[in-house]
Amino acid sequence: MTDVLDQTGLQQRRHLVTEIPGPRSQELMARRQATVSAGVGTTLPVFITRAGGGVLEDVDGNTLIDLGSGIAVTSVGNAAPRVVEAVQAQVADFTHTCFMVTPYEGYVAVCEALAELTPGDHAKKSALFNSGSEAVENAVKIARHATGRQAVVVFDHAYHGRTNLTMALTAKNMPYKHRFGPFAGEVYRVPMSYPFRDGLSGPDAAVRAISQIEVQVGAGNTAAVLIEPLQGEGGFIEPAPGFLTAISEWCTANGVVFIADEIQSGFCRTGAWFGVDAEGVVPDLVTTAKGMAGGLPLAAVTGRAEIMDAVHPGGLGGTYGGNPVACAAALGAIETMRAEDLVGAARGIGEVMLPRLRTLAERFPAIGDVRGRGAMIAVELVRPGTTEPDAALTGAVAKACHARGVVVLTAGSYGNVLRFLPPLVIGRDLLEEALDVIEEAFAEVTGS
Ligand SMILES: Cc1ncc(COP(=O)(O)O)c(C=O)c1O
Repeated sequence: MTDVLDQTGLQQRRHLVTEIPGPRSQELMARRQATVSAGVGTTLPVFITRAGGGVLEDVDGNTLIDLGSGIAVTSVGNAAPRVVEAVQAQVADFTHTCFMVTPYEGYVAVCEALAELTPGDHAKKSALFNSGSEAVENAVKIARHATGRQAVVVFDHAYHGRTNLTMALTAKNMPYKHRFGPFAGEVYRVPMSYPFRDGLSGPDAAVRAISQIEVQVGAGNTAAVLIEPLQGEGGFIEPAPGFLTAISEWCTANGVVFIADEIQSGFCRTGAWFGVDAEGVVPDLVTTAKGMAGGLPLAAVTGRAEIMDAVHPGGLGGTYGGNPVACAAALGAIETMRAEDLVGAARGIGEVMLPRLRTLAERFPAIGDVRGRGAMIAVELVRPGTTEPDAALTGAVAKACHARGVVVLTAGSYGNVLRFLPPLVIGRDLLEEALDVIEEAFAEVTGS
């Protein structure tokens, strides 16, 4: 396997030449601690020099297997050739004009691609922003403006960002909200479908959520229902079949804007272009970011033309939203997704990972649930035979993976979910090796 190179020329192998983190990374970490706010966390303190395919190379010469994709961003691979080429060409031509001052074609081309790729064949329009949080904020602004209503309904375990409005929309207190209030008003939280914990069918879970909205908020006051079709930071919670359909139908019947937050689940990640595709649901608005632009900051709100156009000119925008370099990157990334069939690649990753993880669950009873779709896969860890979350074990397994050179992330309201988000271009051998390492990590940590 040592001679396998990705398109960036980086050897596709796990190869550790120092302890993790190595001495150079430790030196840089000391500099980081002296100058970077302690409020900015670090999952794994290795400093990266190059990355591509399924590996990250660090300053000490170690190469690690990447099962995080920079939190679901580098779906097309790091420094993906089409992205690099498009960015280099754009950056040499011009870097910024502000689309609201003098426009350029790349922004329009990204909006055309979004209209084509997002679910539904109705007329669609988009507005571009810099981050996922900003896209979500704007989706709420648009829905409120279009409906003349104020209430926004969100779900347990939701994650929508860290800005003031999105903190209110996000469920978990630590670390996202703690001591950062007061939060924005007119945000209402209802129960999510969480099959592992509530045992409800999708339609039954939807009845529970809808009756709460009707009793506590009132359909006529509700501007939008905002939902991640497959929840991300909350623990890769996949609602039971029928849940999304029932919620979206209720929205349509009540003039409520159904917003799908596809920032983590979108752009091939789940083995479909978008997470809602699993149920054939067509949202009124879709928020996207992360995987869309191959690592450059770009986000979008896309939706029904009449809703997107309800806002007065000048009501949406920002200095950098839809920056030309980020737009070029997105066009390169989308071309890569199409040319390399990354929808199929994501499915293939799920087909490798899910059976292996299910076998692991038989060996290690702390694995209470194995779930996810495509390349958005997780295991939830509990005290054996119960649903009591085991965050300590989750952290220990993640650490043992890191020490062996495999980057994994944790998630979940209870901190007890190990989540896997490999780049969709990761090689099969590397993926299998990462799964071997995960198994070793479980064996070491559980002593079995
Ligand atoms: C579903 C979802 N929405 C919104 C966000 C916020 O995106 P950003 O970190 O780009 O602001 C995230 C980020 O993890 C996310 O997963």
